[in-house]
Amino acid sequence: MIISSMRRLCVRLSFGLVAACDPDHAERAGADSGEDGNDEAQAVEIDEDEVLAAGMDYASQLEQLSDTPEVSETHSDAASVMVWGSADAAKRFLSIDPMDPTQEVTFEEGTMFVKEHFDAAGAKVGLTIMYKGPEGYDSAARDWFWARVRGNEVTHRGRVDFCSDCHEAAHNTDFVVGFGKSQ
Ligand code: HEC
Repeated sequence: MIISSMRRLCVRLSFGLVAACDPDHAERAGADSGEDGNDEAQAVEIDEDEVLAAGMDYASQLEQLSDTPEVSETHSDAASVMVWGSADAAKRFLSIDPMDPTQEVTFEEGTMFVKEHFDAAGAKVGLTIMYKGPEGYDSAARDWFWARVRGNEVTHRGRVDFCSDCHEAAHNTDFVVGFGKSQ
């Protein structure tokens, strides 16, 4: 009786929800008491050290996208900022008009942006780095890897919610704000 009404429900829900009705799947989820961290094997990861090394070496790896340091809107430790980016992405970055919410721009896997932060005296105090990982790395945040460097210390790296939560405002342009470009 219960089984047949479950089956009817499953049939009704079956489009796109097959896994929810798959008894094997349900059993496995229920029996998950092991400590071997099977879930992790499925996560899409990137080589963070390699990405960070490339990001720190921005001056030789990337193209300078701002002519001069510009006043930062929101990155609070910076009086002014300068943006660098992957050569292939430069044109698209420069085409972003932050005042036009209808624009649709996306960036490919491997794209990198680095923002230099300067204090009021013009001394460099740190960097922020965005690197587009492979599909599935963090789909809620368009697969961007985020890092923040102060001095020589990496203070944040990986799927950093506080970065992506704010950059989400630029969802039409793939979480890239596009400010700080040459005018
Ligand atoms: C409160 C909102 C906010 C937060 C939090 C934030 N950003 Fe940004 N980000 C911006 C804005 C606005 C710009 C445009 C330039 C500026 O104003 O400095 C920007 C620009 C950038 C850029 C240049 C590329 C682009 O999108 O134009 C990078 C790289 C970047 N941020 C990385 C980060 C990282 C890494 C973090 C977290 C450590 C972070 N941001 C946190 C708002 C934010």
